[in-house]
Amino acid sequence: MLSISQIVRRALVMQLAVPAFNVPYLPMIEPVIQAVIDQDSFALVEVARLEWRKFESQSLAAVATEFYRHNQPEYVRLHLDHVPVIDEDNLRVDFMPIFEEALGLGYESVMIDGSRLPLAENIQVTRQVVELAHEAGCPVEAELGAIMGHEAAPLLSYEELFTTGRGFTNVEEARLFVQETGCDWLSVAIGNIHGAIAAGRKDQKKIEARLNIERLDQLSRASQIPLVLHGGSGIQQAALMESTRHGIAKINVATEIRQPYETALKDTGSIPQAQQAVYDRTIWILQAFLGIAGKREKILSTGPVPL
Ligand code: 13P
Repeated sequence: MLSISQIVRRALVMQLAVPAFNVPYLPMIEPVIQAVIDQDSFALVEVARLEWRKFESQSLAAVATEFYRHNQPEYVRLHLDHVPVIDEDNLRVDFMPIFEEALGLGYESVMIDGSRLPLAENIQVTRQVVELAHEAGCPVEAELGAIMGHEAAPLLSYEELFTTGRGFTNVEEARLFVQETGCDWLSVAIGNIHGAIAAGRKDQKKIEARLNIERLDQLSRASQIPLVLHGGSGIQQAALMESTRHGIAKINVATEIRQPYETALKDTGSIPQAQQAVYDRTIWILQAFLGIAGKREKILSTGPVPL
């Protein structure tokens, strides 16, 4: 069976990004997995620290237990999304115990997010996590640049962000960061933003983000590793498809499936109905939005295994 590192490398070579679905509510796990299977696709199921603290996925262990109840490793794997060093409320996080726990629970890849730190410190904490995770054979995603959205209030308008390129990942820094840390995948800021999670804003429709493909291409050449696109919900579709031809090999999707779950639960009070809404939306994402339906064979088992 291919490792998740090999699968993401293959996705990069095949110019097909692996979707990674966030699960802020435990009942979302089953319909996401079912949709991936039914669409003969491949995806990651992932949970971020803020989703077990601010939403209802409870804990790393609860997500792992629910995931492994439904797991089919030929279709899905479990990833630990954002563990920030400084979180969205500007608080310092004791991050190493979270990684130790995740590795013990069978998470197959993990993400350290030192993006709110100065470069040297981001390098230092990322290297620390890489050492721990690689010892256990687990690949590490890291982040460089500022992907806005999770903070309580927007710092600037989207238009301003995109036109000024403020917070976009710097190409030379990315080259140095990858060399110095040995991270496996890099999350980059190129116009993508996270869906809001703050009360009062988390139900709003996300802005249609654009991507600076030229910057992405430079980042891909400089880093030479698979790149990750956070904030996958609501990105302009043409830009999204183009990004997979310029180094994006994993696309994170949260808001797009969280909001239908919450809306259906609010309207009907029924978890099965909310699960159905997640299933339907995941099918749409795999088929119409990402065009990854029916592509499992292509990612998993054709051609020579890239190193
Ligand atoms: P969206 O909520 O914008 O899809 O972002 C998801 C994400 O990047 C999680 O890490």
